[in-house]
Parts: sequence; structure tokens; C-alpha cells
Amino acid sequence: MKSERIVKTCGKLYLAGEYAVLSPGQAALIKNIPIFMTGRIQPAVTYRLASDMFNHQASLEPDADYSLIQETIAVMNDWLLAQRITSQPFSLTISGKMEREGRKFGIGSSGSVVILTLKAMAAFYQLNVDAELLFKLAAFVLLRRGDNGSMGDLACIVYEDLVYYRSFDRAHIRKQLAATDMMTIFAQDWGYQIRRIQPALACDFLVGWTKEPAISKDLVEQVKSAIDDHFLSQTQRQVNLLAAALTGGDKTAVKASLEEVSSLLAGLSPAIYTAKLSQLKAAAEGLDCVAKSSGAGGGDCGIALVFNVEDKQILLQRWQLAGIELLHQERMGEYESES
Ligand code: PMV
Ligand code: MG
Repeated sequence: MKSERIVKTCGKLYLAGEYAVLSPGQAALIKNIPIFMTGRIQPAVTYRLASDMFNHQASLEPDADYSLIQETIAVMNDWLLAQRITSQPFSLTISGKMEREGRKFGIGSSGSVVILTLKAMAAFYQLNVDAELLFKLAAFVLLRRGDNGSMGDLACIVYEDLVYYRSFDRAHIRKQLAATDMMTIFAQDWGYQIRRIQPALACDFLVGWTKEPAISKDLVEQVKSAIDDHFLSQTQRQVNLLAAALTGGDKTAVKASLEEVSSLLAGLSPAIYTAKLSQLKAAAEGLDCVAKSSGAGGGDCGIALVFNVEDKQILLQRWQLAGIELLHQERMGEYESES
């Protein structure tokens, strides 16, 4: 299988700015989670798609389970055509479902699978698709499907890093989809910003999984009418303070901002902090630690930053008692000290 190519994409979780980032021009901080999906692609006589999410395979014939992958292929094939590249059938096998025992982690699997498919096809055609184009192609796929998200997940997964993402006006781009050709849309400045953030603050970053699957799309529909100017301006202020505090290594300010965005979320809708997410957060009380819900809430995951080993152990015990599973942990903000 010498012509097989392998690509990977990560997961993501919000640190701050959820819901606010749905409003164009608002920012969020989103962290890459190194739990990966893998795509294997090679030439084939006819298209063959396989994912470990499903018990069956598909071709390009409409298939509800594979529609996200199929639409991604269709968009990439259109783009190839615009480059005068003749598309060819391939076999694409996707593994590394971001779930356990049928319950999803909620770390961005749908965004990840779109980017995985695009990266696999770029590898297949030996094309250098830069981060900017990859983000636009992926956003194009999701906009075409009527996705109501901010595209922050895509920004993080494309850069595979902790990013500061300022959202663009999706309605404005969506309006052009029917009438304007793809290359004209891609040539525009969409008005978003994606910037890598390098934290200088040493801590343990923990992900707690509630094992309660939540559907972001539904939560957004439920919560969006509560988003007001106060929520937006206060969240934006804290996101900026948090970005500066992370890069500046200011622990007190990092904790204060994460607490503040968490209270803003709690005040936005009771749907966000479920009983388990409230426990996940409360577990940080009295410790050198800060914890909060991540993303749309209503289940899925929460995050914590912990600043000493003893407190980390206590936090983990409390999570365990509450039925919250440690999904991922890593050291953050540690790199060679400057001499
Ligand atoms: O629950 P997640 O990780 O999919 O995050 C959703 C974040 C929202 O701001 C609520 C929606 C979005 O697309 O930005
Ligand atoms: Mg979620």
C-alpha cells in the first residue's frame, strides 16, 4: 500500500468566549485537545468511505451517516475543478471516533472530521493547502449545511494550537453561497482573526468529561435570545484579559477572568451548568485551581487549570466522586526559560 497517505486532526475545547463568539467580531479562546482522528486515503476504482463511527461503508451515493464527509468531498472536488485538477476516486478510512461506549466526548468531532477529510484529500492530490484556505474550505462546508456555529472549533483544529479566534459574519458569507462562485468567495477577506496564544503560565490543564452528551446546535437555539450587549462586552473584556494574562504568566488574572466568564455563562442560561458541570466547577473550591464548563455546556466537558500537585489530586478525587472522568491532562505553559 505504498500510495496510502495518513493524516490526523485533533479535538478542541473552549477556554472562554462561548456563546459571545456567535456574534460577529467577538472573540473566544479555544484549546486544541490532542485526542486525534486518523484518515487513511489511497486511490481506488470507485469512492469508498469507511468510518469507525458506523457499521457500514458508503460511496458518494447519498447516505445520511456519511453526509458530512460526502459534502466535504463535494466541496473539495469543486475546488479542485476550479484549479483544473481532475478528481479521482479514492478510499478514505476514518478512525479514532471521539467517543466511548456510544457517548461522544464533545470535543469537536464534526469539525474535526471535515478538516480531516480536507487534509486527506490535500495529501492525496499532493497539494499544499495552507491554514487559511483549509479554514475557509471547512467553514464553507459547514455554512452550506446550515450550521449555526461560530466556526471557532474549525479555527482551533486547523491551527492545532491554543488560539484567539475573532468570528466573522457568517450570514454575510452564507448569503453569497448560492449566487457567487467559490473562488470569488474564498478570495475575500471574511473578517475573522486567528492568532496563536503561547501561555507562559505553568499549570496543569485538565479536561473533565461528564459523560452526558449535549448537542451544541440545540443549546445555541435555546440560549441565543438571552445574549445581550452586557454579556458580549463583559465576555470580550475577559477574553482579552485572559489572553494577556496567559501570555504574561499572571496566575491571579487568569483565575479571575476564567471565574468571570464562568459566572457570565451561568447567568446567561440555566441550561449551561447542569448538575454535573456545577459539580465539576465546585470541585475547585478552596484549591489553587479554577474550573468551568466548556463550550455550549448542558453536558460534555469542563476544564480546569490547577497550580499545584496536591490540589490536583484533591480535584481529581472530587471529580471521581461526582462521576466526572479525567479525559485528558497536560502541562501548559512550560518551555525553556530565556537566559
Ligand atoms: O460545545 P462546543 O464545544 O461545541 O462549543 C460551542 C460554543 C458555542 O459558542 C456555544 C457555539 C459556537 O459555535 O461557537
Ligand atoms: Mg459541547
